[in-house]
Amino acid sequence: MPYFHLLTSAALLGAIAQGVSAQNASTCAGVSGACSQLASLYGDSVLSNSSSNYTTVNTQFWDLRSDLAPSCIFLPNTADEVASALGILSSCQAEFAVRGGGHMNFPGSNNIDNGVLLALNNLNNITVNANGNESTFTVGPGNRWFEVYAALEPFGLYAIGGRLKTIGVSGLSLIGGFHYFINKYGFAMDNIVQYDVVLGNGTQVVANNATNPDLFWALKGGANNFGVVTRFTTRAYAIPEISTTMLQFNTSAVEAWVQATVDLANSTPDVAAGAVLTIRYDPATKMATPGVLGVQAGTESPPSCFANFTAIGPTAQIDNVTTPTVWHDQLDSPDQMYRVQFGHHTILPDTTRIFAIYQAWTEAVDNVADVEGLQSTFVLNVMPKSAAAVSKNNGIGNVWGLDDTQNLIAWQTANTWQNASDDLRMTNWITKFLDYHHRINQQMGLASEFLYMGDAAEFQNPFLGMPFENVQRMRAIRAAYDPQGVFTHLNWGGFKLGA
Ligand SMILES: *[C@@H]1O[C@H](CO)[C@@H](O)[C@H](O)[C@H]1NC(C)=O
Ligand SMILES: *[C@@H]1O[C@H](CO)[C@@H](O)[C@H](O)[C@H]1NC(C)=O
Ligand SMILES: *[C@@H]1O[C@H](CO)[C@@H](O)[C@H](O)[C@H]1NC(C)=O
Ligand SMILES: *[C@@H]1O[C@H](CO)[C@@H](O)[C@H](O)[C@H]1NC(C)=O
Ligand SMILES: *[C@@H]1O[C@H](CO)[C@@H](O)[C@H](O)[C@H]1NC(C)=O
Ligand SMILES: *[C@@H]1O[C@H](CO)[C@@H](O)[C@H](O)[C@H]1NC(C)=O
Ligand SMILES: *[C@@H]1O[C@H](CO)[C@@H](O)[C@H](O)[C@H]1NC(C)=O
Ligand SMILES: *[C@@H]1O[C@H](CO)[C@@H](O)[C@H](O)[C@H]1NC(C)=O
Ligand SMILES: *[C@@H]1O[C@H](CO)[C@@H](O)[C@H](O)[C@H]1NC(C)=O
Ligand SMILES: *[C@@H]1O[C@H](CO)[C@@H](O)[C@H](O)[C@H]1NC(C)=O
Ligand SMILES: *[C@@H]1O[C@H](CO)[C@@H](O)[C@H](O)[C@H]1NC(C)=O
Repeated sequence: MPYFHLLTSAALLGAIAQGVSAQNASTCAGVSGACSQLASLYGDSVLSNSSSNYTTVNTQFWDLRSDLAPSCIFLPNTADEVASALGILSSCQAEFAVRGGGHMNFPGSNNIDNGVLLALNNLNNITVNANGNESTFTVGPGNRWFEVYAALEPFGLYAIGGRLKTIGVSGLSLIGGFHYFINKYGFAMDNIVQYDVVLGNGTQVVANNATNPDLFWALKGGANNFGVVTRFTTRAYAIPEISTTMLQFNTSAVEAWVQATVDLANSTPDVAAGAVLTIRYDPATKMATPGVLGVQAGTESPPSCFANFTAIGPTAQIDNVTTPTVWHDQLDSPDQMYRVQFGHHTILPDTTRIFAIYQAWTEAVDNVADVEGLQSTFVLNVMPKSAAAVSKNNGIGNVWGLDDTQNLIAWQTANTWQNASDDLRMTNWITKFLDYHHRINQQMGLASEFLYMGDAAEFQNPFLGMPFENVQRMRAIRAAYDPQGVFTHLNWGGFKLGA
């Protein structure tokens, strides 16, 4: 056989292995080839950077840092179109990013320079299968959680999704998902009963407890390493009304507020309840303002689970009994307001140490007070062991593998600012603050290595906080379902297992 023939055969075999249609192999090269193939197939659903709608669609991000410059944006209308796109992207070897709600706050997690942005806006169906606490709903990845809560409300149902209004369905679901009611229902991922997935070679599969159960498990916290989810089927609960409280405190109340947070982490209420717990700090006045956004299932008002906060003596208190949508509607976080960066670590509930970290944080904020538009917030996310117990006991599990004998608190600094010229300074500042105080916690035997992707910075690696056997298992599952490494090499942004 002539030499050139061997090469041709090898190229052809390679092309077939990559799912390339032979007739297009020569015309399809990289991102520009993928964009033109998508445009020829899907016309108006593909936006080049000269399209009138390009900027509108390309600014549907919460974090201004996500405003990158994709070569084209494809807005698929069906799962079949996502599958077709994946076939084209993988055969062209075109780099791409995928966006659901656009709330993940770091560049590359949901957008890409000079690549293809797969914007899932139009996969926005929601169907409700109402049956009391056995209810489920199906939801497309283009929705945000407020839309889900609004669709469930006429049926008296509620779901375990985002706590603020504009958080997207797919991102939150794939990274695990904090909600107020994790103490009873676990995390968002623990409530998903089926994922409809497009794999890297364009094949569509379902993953549930019976079919592709290994992929089903890996998608519970494994983020964007395995495929594009085009539909989630998720449990809903008969919770027509919630009891809410908004509390604010004086600077002098911070230590008592931390103690009440530790009490909440250690408490074991039968009722579903939880809170967003934040301290705002103004370096100009040196005043800190602790706050509580507390939610409890049912109509008991004020909600009993937050009694230790109320006992401190808030400077403002608004209690209400209302529906989930009325509550979530108030908690808006509009797109494009600022540059955003979160970073955190996890600690055992220890009032003295958490209060010390808070004090160190105020001093650290003083050092960046001149950053244009700086707002720094100290956030505590309570993770009672009952939240970890849900996945331990449901016969399915999740990739986090959290210890269900240990209450935890994630301590976070959430920072926003104005100018790109301050990005490096802020990243450097956040890194050093987090690393040093986590080191002290390690020395004191108080540290947990758990990291939640929703509150982690791009320089943190949440897979380091998961049991090693779970990481190895995820890598094996990735090798089986994405042997070409499409979600490692072409879709490289976000929290990745690594090459
Ligand atoms: C091949 O590419 C052409 C033009 O880019 C397109 O019209 C055609 O549908 C593609 N065929 C396949 C099988 O993808
Ligand atoms: C582009 O914008 C127009 C006007 O807002 C709208 O009718 C059309 O559906 C948009 N096209 C896409 C692909 O988003
Ligand atoms: C569009 O993309 C091309 C190729 O990357 C680039 O040269 C051009 O500056 C972009 N135009 C705009 C308006 O972003
Ligand atoms: C959304 O629902 C409509 C109406 O039931 C249906 O025609 C359409 O195919 C659905 N779209 C997707 C992406 O499932
Ligand atoms: C459904 O769940 C809610 C919240 O846990 C509970 O209060 C209610 O009693 C349950 N309803 C039924 C019919 O089981
Ligand atoms: C309030 O604090 C007390 C004492 O620390 C604790 O026993 C109790 O569980 C706490 N209650 C709540 C609702 O957190
Ligand atoms: C909060 O601080 C303000 C101003 O320092 C003071 O007037 C007020 O009495 C304080 N309220 C409480 C509940 O401590
Ligand atoms: C309290 O709940 C009622 C009933 O849902 C609602 O109309 C009202 O806007 C709520 N008030 C606040 C302050 O949330
Ligand atoms: C899922 O499958 C496992 C193993 O087959 C089984 O033990 C468990 O009960 C199933 N869980 C559910 C919720 O169906
Ligand atoms: C920072 O942002 C402010 C407000 O948008 C603007 O006036 C200023 O020129 C910016 N500075 C730099 C260095 O970009
Ligand atoms: C796509 O990949 C999956 C998982 O590796 C495999 O089972 C399936 O056969 C592949 N489909 C095609 C058409 O190559």
